Amino acid sequence: MRTVAIALLGLGAAAQAQSSSTAVTVKWLEDTPTIQTGTTFGIPWARGQHLANGTTFTASTGALQSWITAYWPDGSIKWSGHAIPASDIVPDEYTIAASGPGNATVPKFRRQAVNGTQIQVDESAEGITVNTGKITASFPKSGDVLVSSIKTSDGKTVGKNGRLILRSQSGIAEDGDASGINYFKFASKIYNTTVSSESSVRALITIQGIHATVANSTASHKDWLPFTVRFYLYANSDAIRTIHTFVFDGDSKSDFISALGIRFDVPLSREELYDRHVRIAGVDGGILHEAVQGLTGLRRDPGAAVRSAQYNGTKTPDKSTWDTRVSSRLQWIPTWGDYRVTQLSADGFNIKKRTKAGQSWVKIPGGTRAGGLAYLGGASVGGLAVGLRDFWKKYPTSLDISNAATDVGSITLWLYSPQAEPMDLRPYHDGLGEDTYAKQLDALEITYEDFEDGYNTPYGIARTNELFIYAFSSTPSADTLSVLTNTTNTPPVLVPEPEYIESTAAIGTYWKTPSSTSTSDSAATIESHLDFLIQFYRDQIEQRRWYGFWDHGDIMHGYDTDRHQWKYDVGGYAWDNSELSPDLFFWTHFLRTGRADIYRLAEAQVRHGGEVDSYHLGNFTGLGTRHGVQHWGDSAKQVRISTPVYRKTFYYISGGDERTGDLVHEVLQAEKGFYLVDARRKVRDPSVIYTPDPTALYLNFGTDWAGVAAAYLLEWERRGPRWEESRAKLLETFATFPLLKFGFVTGEALYDSTTGAWAPPPTDPSNNGTVNISHLSAVFGVLETLDQLFTHYPEVPRPFVDAWLDYCYYYGASKAEQKARYGKDFGTVNLRQGHARLTAYAAYRRNNATLAARAWNEFLNDNSADELGPGDPWSTVRFGGSSVLAGVEEAEWITTNAAALFGLSGIENLALVGAPGGNGTVRS
Ligand SMILES: *[C@@H]1O[C@H](CO)[C@@H](O)[C@H](O)[C@H]1NC(C)=O
Ligand SMILES: *[C@@H]1O[C@H](CO)[C@@H](O)[C@H](O)[C@H]1NC(C)=O
Ligand SMILES: *[C@@H]1O[C@H](CO)[C@@H](O)[C@H](O)[C@H]1NC(C)=O
Ligand SMILES: *[C@@H]1O[C@H](CO)[C@@H](O)[C@H](O)[C@H]1NC(C)=O
Ligand SMILES: *[C@@H]1O[C@H](CO)[C@@H](O)[C@H](O)[C@H]1NC(C)=O
Ligand SMILES: *[C@@H]1O[C@H](CO)[C@@H](O)[C@H](O)[C@H]1NC(C)=O
Ligand SMILES: *[C@@H]1O[C@H](CO)[C@@H](O)[C@H](O)[C@H]1NC(C)=O
Repeated sequence: MRTVAIALLGLGAAAQAQSSSTAVTVKWLEDTPTIQTGTTFGIPWARGQHLANGTTFTASTGALQSWITAYWPDGSIKWSGHAIPASDIVPDEYTIAASGPGNATVPKFRRQAVNGTQIQVDESAEGITVNTGKITASFPKSGDVLVSSIKTSDGKTVGKNGRLILRSQSGIAEDGDASGINYFKFASKIYNTTVSSESSVRALITIQGIHATVANSTASHKDWLPFTVRFYLYANSDAIRTIHTFVFDGDSKSDFISALGIRFDVPLSREELYDRHVRIAGVDGGILHEAVQGLTGLRRDPGAAVRSAQYNGTKTPDKSTWDTRVSSRLQWIPTWGDYRVTQLSADGFNIKKRTKAGQSWVKIPGGTRAGGLAYLGGASVGGLAVGLRDFWKKYPTSLDISNAATDVGSITLWLYSPQAEPMDLRPYHDGLGEDTYAKQLDALEITYEDFEDGYNTPYGIARTNELFIYAFSSTPSADTLSVLTNTTNTPPVLVPEPEYIESTAAIGTYWKTPSSTSTSDSAATIESHLDFLIQFYRDQIEQRRWYGFWDHGDIMHGYDTDRHQWKYDVGGYAWDNSELSPDLFFWTHFLRTGRADIYRLAEAQVRHGGEVDSYHLGNFTGLGTRHGVQHWGDSAKQVRISTPVYRKTFYYISGGDERTGDLVHEVLQAEKGFYLVDARRKVRDPSVIYTPDPTALYLNFGTDWAGVAAAYLLEWERRGPRWEESRAKLLETFATFPLLKFGFVTGEALYDSTTGAWAPPPTDPSNNGTVNISHLSAVFGVLETLDQLFTHYPEVPRPFVDAWLDYCYYYGASKAEQKARYGKDFGTVNLRQGHARLTAYAAYRRNNATLAARAWNEFLNDNSADELGPGDPWSTVRFGGSSVLAGVEEAEWITTNAAALFGLSGIENLALVGAPGGNGTVRS
């Protein structure tokens, strides 16, 4: 992350002629939170409004840390990121004012001492220490411990030795036969620890490393599972937000993860056993209250004050005041050192406890969905709570409290529970003899799975989890822990108003808020259908239990009406992997409505698609995987799945989420992936000679180039390390692509990944004009990426824009028009409803009212399998009884392809050409 020089509260620094001031309001996505432990958010700015150099940001509430996450090409701010400290009083909204030069000459930038700095960062050769005012945490630069200590402001060390734990095994026992299986134990091994350069309100510690076998592991294994763990600490906060990412770089046939977690030690020696408390988050805000040595429920009563103090987590009255029939017999009351919450499915968790290892566990009543937070500590020594966001949604998970009756207890948060079966990432079938392209293509005809041995690999996929660590100088109230459990699962988010975001055009011009489109009945019907689809997928996620360690965040692709079941086991119809951009539908609908439910749906997709459906290591780095039964199983590895256009809104709204920023850099590496993986190797006419070469890659503009173009654009906006190269490649594409005689209608041509230049395809070296239309080219975010490019850089040469508008016009034009223009027609084109937005885009850009009417006709009268229309039921049917496993709502008329296309085309048509049946005017 580039932390840019911005004067904080530097009033007066930029007082120049032509200075301007803009105030933007950001509000909580959901209800105003009761606890606010520090928040980061992003704000877009219109082109030319505030030059990056010299703009000052202030917050209505005081302390603010600001940085720039994107620039317009003229050097003005496109997106800013901001951090506010933790606060006890939480306002409903914040006003962020930017003051400074507009388009005037750039004033001298004067760096100001940061006023109100509360975070203190001390860095030495050994490590980094951050003091937030509430806690001091230390992060070593080497060794196996990520967080060496967490101290409260009154000097109590409440957490120590925060470290990662991994166990794996070389095989999986079948029928209880475990012979020949090796078992391995690993600890974290740090490569490097760094701190953000600007840390006034927020300090970010980033630790990179790998898992290495511990000395007493029964067998040795190479170092594996590289990790990046980011710790976000805010001024005045006693919480540490932690983003944990690991990449799977094992062999799916011999590396089975059996446990993956993070453990903290909690010093307890100076606390009486009966003043040590265990709290575990249960269901709907519920908290389990336990003490290591219980004083309640005994045959003799120590006194009401003693019992109530222990239950409430406060220090018990002095022992001399207790009934001596209790105080004289403490040695007979067992102490409970170990507690364990295990969530092996989305539907239930168990809790148990034991006095110590070697003794039997005793069951505690469990429940359905655990809150995923546990606290261990004492009334006077304080303690630590650790929580995992989406604990039950990412099952199998667990939480262990161990050795609480000894001097040092511990809390272990298991991202992958050791109580679960080992994680099995092997292919789900043996290849079925599909050893030639011909057989693989024939199999595609029946299961729609595009198989190829070696490509069904999880090598290089990743997962990112969000954890929170909370420090306390005494046991907190159960109410506090209940609220923190909610905060952990629904971290508060600040967002600008939809109308404001729209006005800046920072996410393009292809969407508008509902109020600014039309209030006509026809628009209202489309709006109600968009809302129906959102609600439908939210409900399906729950009813179909689309949850789990790797699965959470994805939705399914196709529906089996006979079994009343999504086609979870039918090849290419199973997991959706962003096919035809449902992510973009959700994000765009969020942008125009500001709705929290849509944000949360889309946020989970960001964390899924960018991680699990994409590759981060190896030959496929930067590419994603086509839909299938396993997220990584299909042999089509393409950037159409990993394209950062799906993650861009989240990236900027979150103030530049650093993990998402890394993913954009990985997609830039898809240039190499194009060279290593020929996407059309199975389907290209054998007469076409093509040898991949970085200077002449045979790419489709939509399924290949558009994704990497989205990454180039983000890199240009961010001014990341490769921004000038990225810009140069885009400019070269703008100049050379229109030289293809038929522009985008050429479909596939040769791309020079070293310069961005395009050349005619090998099938047409003299550029006489090629017509190669695929229904897939324009349905993976290409329109949205191009519109963002045109908005970013209005100087895009007219021939390039015209080439695109021609594609938009002719895709849905009559065969006669196509033939007149290109010498042949496009045959039968599919996905007309989804392409209606291209027609609308041409109508809007060319101010053509006739075309606007055509766009709505295509949208409303597609009548194919991949569309949704006014004649569809727009309701679900309930199935129960013995017809299904458990009651579900079914909409057999919906496929996810159709939902995504309807959603995007509906939103974009409304924005670009107004409501259907309107007066035919095109938006100005
Ligand atoms: C949980 O947090 C969300 C977001 O701040 C809020 O809308 C909701 O009301 C909270 N729920 C409870 C039970 O506190
Ligand atoms: C900056 O220039 C843009 C046009 O490029 C204009 O729309 C905007 O109002 C100008 N802003 C200021 C502060 O002068
Ligand atoms: C800001 O402006 C000053 C003076 O014109 C210049 O020296 C400096 O490089 C600029 N900084 C950035 C980040 O553009
Ligand atoms: C910060 O600014 C405020 C108001 O501008 C001032 O009263 C205060 O003394 C400043 N604090 C520091 C630490 O400079
Ligand atoms: C940290 O180590 C990793 C792995 O060796 C390396 O890729 C990365 O560049 C390093 N980061 C820093 C900031 O040194
Ligand atoms: C194994 O080693 C780890 C650290 O290297 C240590 O924490 C653990 O206690 C050891 N276990 C046994 C059984 O010796
Ligand atoms: C403990 O909490 C209960 C309610 O949860 C309350 O009635 C009681 O007064 C509390 N006792 C103490 C000592 O705080």
